[in-house]
Formats: sequence, C-alpha cells, structure tokens
Amino acid sequence: RPTLRVGVLGSGTVGTQVIRLLLEQADDFAARSGARLEITGVAVRDVDAPRDEAVPRQLLTDDAESVATSNDIVIELIGGIEPARTLILAAFESGASVITGNKALIAAHGPELYAAAAAANTDFYYEAAVAGAIPVVYALRESMAGDRVTSVLGIVNGTTNYILDEMSTKGLSFDAALAAAQELGYAEADPTADVDGLDAAAKAAIIASLAFHTRVGMDDVEVEGIRSITADDIREAHASGCELKLLAIAQRVSSEPDGVEGISVRVHPALVPADHPLASVHGGFNAVLVDAEAAGRLMFYGQGAGGAPTASAVLSDVVAAAAHRVNGGQAPRESSYADLPILAPEQA
Ligand code: NDP
Ligand code: HSE
Repeated sequence: RPTLRVGVLGSGTVGTQVIRLLLEQADDFAARSGARLEITGVAVRDVDAPRDEAVPRQLLTDDAESVATSNDIVIELIGGIEPARTLILAAFESGASVITGNKALIAAHGPELYAAAAAANTDFYYEAAVAGAIPVVYALRESMAGDRVTSVLGIVNGTTNYILDEMSTKGLSFDAALAAAQELGYAEADPTADVDGLDAAAKAAIIASLAFHTRVGMDDVEVEGIRSITADDIREAHASGCELKLLAIAQRVSSEPDGVEGISVRVHPALVPADHPLASVHGGFNAVLVDAEAAGRLMFYGQGAGGAPTASAVLSDVVAAAAHRVNGGQAPRESSYADLPILAPEQA
C-alpha cells in the first residue's frame, strides 16, 4: 500500500481525538482507504502545553505553514477565520486534500475555498462542520442530490441544547450550564458563538447552501441566540406542553403576495410541542429533519458535539480523500447553480 502524509492543524478537543484514532486504528485506516496514513506533523500554538498522551510530542510544532504545505492530506482543526483560511489556501496550493470542521470559515469563505480546491484539482471535505458525528453534509450533498429538498429543520448546536436541558432538568444557572458544556468539549473556543446562535447560523448557512444549491452566507441568516432565556421561560414552556429549543430552519418559500420563489434561513429559540421528534433531543445531541418532494421526511440524529463524535466525521472525510488519492475520484464540487433570493421573515 502507498503511504500518504497527513498534517494536522490543531490538537484541541477534536484534533486530539483524530490523532488518537488515526494512530490506534492505523491498520483499519489502511484497509479502509487503501493507503497507510502517516501523521507527519501536528501544529499547535504552544508546543510545551500539557496534552493528552495520545498525541506524540515529537509530532508537535508551532510551524503551521510547514504542516499545511508539506502533506498529501491536511486536516484543519484550529477553528476561526485566520490563520485557518490562509493555511487552507496554502494547503490547496500545495496540492493537498483538505478536511476541516470549521463552519465559521465555510459560512464566511466557502466559495473561495471551493474555488481553490477546484483550481488545485483536489478534494475539499467538511463533514464535521455540521452536527458533529451526524452525516448531514454527506446526506444533503450526495444522498439528496436526486431530490428537491423543501426544508431542513434541526437542532444543530450541542452547547445550547445542553444548556437549555441542564437549566430545565437540574435547575442549573445559565453560567453553570455553559461551564459544564465547555468542560465536555462542546463549546467553541469563544462560546459567544454558541450562545448567541452564530455557530448554529453558520451551520444553517451551510445546510441551506447544500440543500438548495445556492450560496448562503452568515449575513443571509436571521439569528437570535439563547442568552435571554430564563428558567421561567423554560418552566412556562413545560407548562404549555412544550420544550424550548434553539432551532435552525432553512426553507423554500414563496414571497407574499407576488409568489416569487426564494429561501428563508433562520436560527431562534422556539417552543417545540412535546410530541414533536425534536422535543426529545437532549444534551449534546443534535437532530436534523429533512423534507424533500420525492423522499418525504428523513430524520438524522446523533452526537452533535464533542471530541470523539466529531473526530468520527473528520475521519470519514480522511478515508474518502485518501481513497481518491489512491484510486482516483473527487469530492463533489460546489453546487451553486440556483440563484434563489433570500426572503426576510416578513416577506415569506
Ligand atoms: P480547540 O480550541 O479545542 O483546539 C484548537 C487547537 O488549535 C488547539 O490545539 C490550539 O493550539 C490550535 N491553535 C489555535 N490557534 C492556532 C494557531 N494560530 N496555530 C496553530 N495552532 C493553533 O478547538 P476544537 O477542537 O473544539 O475545534 C476545532 C474545530 O472543530 C473548530 O473549527 C470547531 O468549530 C470545529 N468543531 C468542534 C466541535 C466540538 O465539539 N468541539 C464539533 C464540530 C466542529 P493549543 O493546543 O496550543 O492551544
Ligand atoms: N460548539 C459546537 C456545538 C460544536 O456546541 O454544537 C459542534 O459543532
């Protein structure tokens, strides 16, 4: 079997689990992908910081650019816009296949990243960017390519779902529940992105782009987070037979009164009736309901955040990219042929 060089940018919650699994299951990965996957370097901010022993210290470096440009497969798990964007573009330019879980970056610069991958004739994968372990990106990008998706409705942020649950079931304060979500590795480095709905909005933008074959960015998403939700709000929701959930909603809609077809993408807390499938999604779990014209309704459910579940999604992309480098084949390119207007809630 050939050997492929793998560089990992970031060894935090997710990167550490990716490295652990790649090393522990090296033979399985060789069998699944057709190549031995050799980690040649792991870029971090602080090489001297204490770390999980699963990450060999001799692989650590603070030279992220060299990791980005000297490998066949580059896995970006730093997060945020810069330096992640510059490093990914450099990786594409060097001919590497790139895998990332960075929804903030994709929602802000997706078209640029797709174009760079196409120019370099290499793969760009991001399964981990939406709903952790749940294969939502694959489902929308590939499984649903033969159908016309009409709406996607989901709980796509584990931190906020966990916070609302802990406030509701254990009576924890908002701050205590957030601290617990951080401890579990659910929250972003800056948890404001979770709490204010921006992480869910980035995922909603990605979902809508894939579902409706159009370009949707962060600015197109109406966002309201959970910062103002109180224990009383949750009690009132229960009293009316509902759960309070942060929902991401992407729909095909017709504008009133002229009937122009467009899409609406939004994130906000909502009352979900107790017998609705999303009402029983608890803790760090996520669920996504997809409605399509021919298929009807599909439901995806699983762990939406955390190191190992997210590593599972990252590694599915690694196997696909490695198999392509060995056997030929390519990840799907950006599918943005539809030019659908984004309709504000009052227009839809
Ligand atoms: P962490 O904050 O836990 O880890 C980030 C890593 O990146 C750390 O190892 C850090 O180094 C390193 N890093 C930060 N800045 C730099 C830099 N300038 N140069 C080199 N290395 C740098 O993040 P997560 O693992 O939680 O998340 C990684 C990505 O995965 C993000 O895009 C996130 O949105 C996404 N994601 C996360 C999920 C989760 O449940 N946590 C789920 C799905 C996606 P050091 O260790 O030295 O600080
Ligand atoms: N911070 C994110 C969440 C991680 O809580 O869902 C998974 O994308």
